[in-house]
Amino acid sequence: MNVLAVLCVFAPLVMSQQVSDPTKVCLPNQLSGLAINLIDERPANFSMDFGLQKVAAQNDTNRYVIDLAKNQGYAFDAQDTCTKFPLGLFSRWFQCLPSAAVFQTQIEAGLGSVSYIADLYEINVGANVSAGILLSRESTYSLPLLRRDFFNGEQRLTLFANPKLGVSDPTIFNVPANC
Ligand SMILES: *[C@@H]1O[C@H](CO)[C@@H](O)[C@H](O)[C@H]1NC(C)=O
Ligand SMILES: *[C@@H]1O[C@H](CO)[C@@H](O)[C@H](O)[C@H]1NC(C)=O
Ligand SMILES: *[C@@H]1O[C@H](CO)[C@@H](O)[C@H](O)[C@H]1NC(C)=O
Repeated sequence: MNVLAVLCVFAPLVMSQQVSDPTKVCLPNQLSGLAINLIDERPANFSMDFGLQKVAAQNDTNRYVIDLAKNQGYAFDAQDTCTKFPLGLFSRWFQCLPSAAVFQTQIEAGLGSVSYIADLYEINVGANVSAGILLSRESTYSLPLLRRDFFNGEQRLTLFANPKLGVSDPTIFNVPANC
């Protein structure tokens, strides 16, 4: 048997194995990049640190910090005034997909050496609460590409771009003790 034939036999097995268990689909420990709200076309820089259990987003005037361990959101305005907010579906992140995530479809994007595979998962939390996430498959982790949230009649669509492993400025996660 030649090498190609062997690859053809094993490649589909490896793929179906990986998509069958969503809890094995994980983001890296630290990730930063640009998140673009596709509804109002506003960009923000985001950082995630699953060791700290924190996700943050920032534009020129506003900053948001999500504390996943404390289940609490914090918003900072242009004057850096801090306001707490409860976490809705929009602000929830998991390093690995929850077991309730259902694989929908796989797509191939790009051509030649820059082509990659992405998997679409759907998470239904209730009648009015669902999320869809498209993740590109990297060697040992996945990266978010597109996320759709539907929460009690409100819809959000976010495009993730310019991914980088790591967090260049950890102060993005800072929350004053008196907030
Ligand atoms: C920054 O984010 C805030 C809140 O989401 C928004 O109101 C504001 O317009 C954004 N600024 C820019 C420059 O996009
Ligand atoms: C994101 O960060 C880069 C580098 O610090 C900065 O040039 C850019 O303006 C920031 N983008 C937003 C939307 O805040
Ligand atoms: C779903 O959302 C709609 C519109 O906001 C509301 O009328 C309906 O009662 C909600 N249903 C449930 C099960 O929450």
